[in-house]
Amino acid sequence: MMPEPRPAAAADAAAIAALDARVNPSPWSADAVRETLARAGGFVIASPGAPLAGFALFAQVADECEILDIAVDPGARRHGLGARLLAAALAAAATRGARRCFLEVRASNAGAQAFYRAAGFVEDGRRKDYYRSGQGREDALLMSRALP
Ligand SMILES: CC(C)(COP(=O)(O)OP(=O)(O)OC[C@H]1O[C@@H](n2cnc3c(N)ncnc32)[C@H](O)[C@@H]1OP(=O)(O)O)[C@@H](O)C(=O)NCCC(=O)NCCS
Repeated sequence: MMPEPRPAAAADAAAIAALDARVNPSPWSADAVRETLARAGGFVIASPGAPLAGFALFAQVADECEILDIAVDPGARRHGLGARLLAAALAAAATRGARRCFLEVRASNAGAQAFYRAAGFVEDGRRKDYYRSGQGREDALLMSRALP
């Protein structure tokens, strides 16, 4: 059976941060995750091999939402978990009145850009030298999509 996302709870913060530390070049601390879950929102998803195989964190202000962080365990990718997490976050934000969703993604992260494009996001612009990268900096691509 396909796993379904569930809303993330404060008790998920440590596992979310542990997964983020494995896959994100600028990982969030468990405290930062906890604070985001309290102030904004998040979803987690299981896979047959892992109780927490992916997560999505998002924020919402009035009619805009932002995907803050999303990741799937490398061993569980390309099975639709990320798409389900993203859809759950967008649906929750839309229910609370969001009309458009924004995000930033590293210019070098072609996989995530393809993932967002597949979910209907389009590139709006670029923030120069937005991310720390090794010894230097790298640009952020700004992407967005309308919510139904
Ligand atoms: C981006 C990420 C969350 C996608 O998770 P996922 O569970 O593998 O995504 P899905 O299986 O739901 O993919 C849905 C569709 O997106 C596209 N897609 C996803 N990953 C892709 C990749 N690496 N390259 C090209 N297209 C990709 C495909 O169209 C895919 O459909 P398909 O598998 O039927 O071809 C995952 O790769 C990840 O955790 N990356 C590291 C963290 C990260 O970069 N997060 C984004 C920060 S802005």
